Amino acid sequence: MARLDVTETFHHISFPGHIHTQDSLNYALHFQFQDRDTVIATYPKSGTTWMQEVVTLVKNRGDPQLSKTVPNWARAPWLEQHYCAKGSKAKVIYVARNPKDVVVSYYHFHKMAKFLPEPNSFDEFLDGFLEGTVSYGSWFDHVKGWTSQAGVLAHFLYISYEEMWLDLRGSIERISSFLQCPLVGKELTSALRHCSFSSMSDNAMVNYTLIPQEIMDHSKGKFMRKGKIGDWRNTFTEEQIGCFDTVYSCQMQDCPLTFLWEC
Ligand code: A3P
Repeated sequence: MARLDVTETFHHISFPGHIHTQDSLNYALHFQFQDRDTVIATYPKSGTTWMQEVVTLVKNRGDPQLSKTVPNWARAPWLEQHYCAKGSKAKVIYVARNPKDVVVSYYHFHKMAKFLPEPNSFDEFLDGFLEGTVSYGSWFDHVKGWTSQAGVLAHFLYISYEEMWLDLRGSIERISSFLQCPLVGKELTSALRHCSFSSMSDNAMVNYTLIPQEIMDHSKGKFMRKGKIGDWRNTFTEEQIGCFDTVYSCQMQDCPLTFLWEC
């Protein structure tokens, strides 16, 4: 199956060109947010789809009707990472995931997503990830840039993929209280059930099986792949761990964030 390799460069970051044109990227850059909006910001493969599901369920008080009938991209439109809500009281939820799991997940996603460049070896892909030359740019810049907004933006919630994984109930409680829509009793139980990995894997509205094969080839791998913490152990060699850790310590030396790498 042919690749749709078209790359658009915007502010020195490369994007898949036939999804994000210069016009659509400019639109995102100049988008005017309303105070009642919620922005979900993530580096790819950090739990974007999961948070879209949680927010949908919270805003609908645990009722899964919308999440079972409307595709996630129609519920939570993509504006990319340019957030320009100066002065707005829009709520921002930033989700980060330990970057060793991110890069493995991203590598597998490149194999099935035909709008991204075909990856060669994992070793080569890892180099691009650490250099920040993969599509959507540097993980380090993304995470440091967004988390530096914690004290600047009026309504900002930082949560990690790992926190959600270890305590989904507590995470939904935190998110729903941040969204000023606290869930109680059966609402919380229902939200919890419908955003579990198994439920989302079976939901065509979020598992991307509605997307044509020319764009996402599910014979090459599932979008809802493993959903685990520490899967990177099955891919990284000792040499790659050393190389990653060196770059990570240097890039993150001034950043107070810590991640759970395995459990
Ligand atoms: P893996 O490839 O490691 O399985 P994004 O939506 O940002 O592209 O992130 C996709 C990653 O989040 C995939 O990781 C996917 O399996 C994982 N994911 C999605 N929903 C999840 C859930 N309910 N529980 C755990 N992981 C989930």
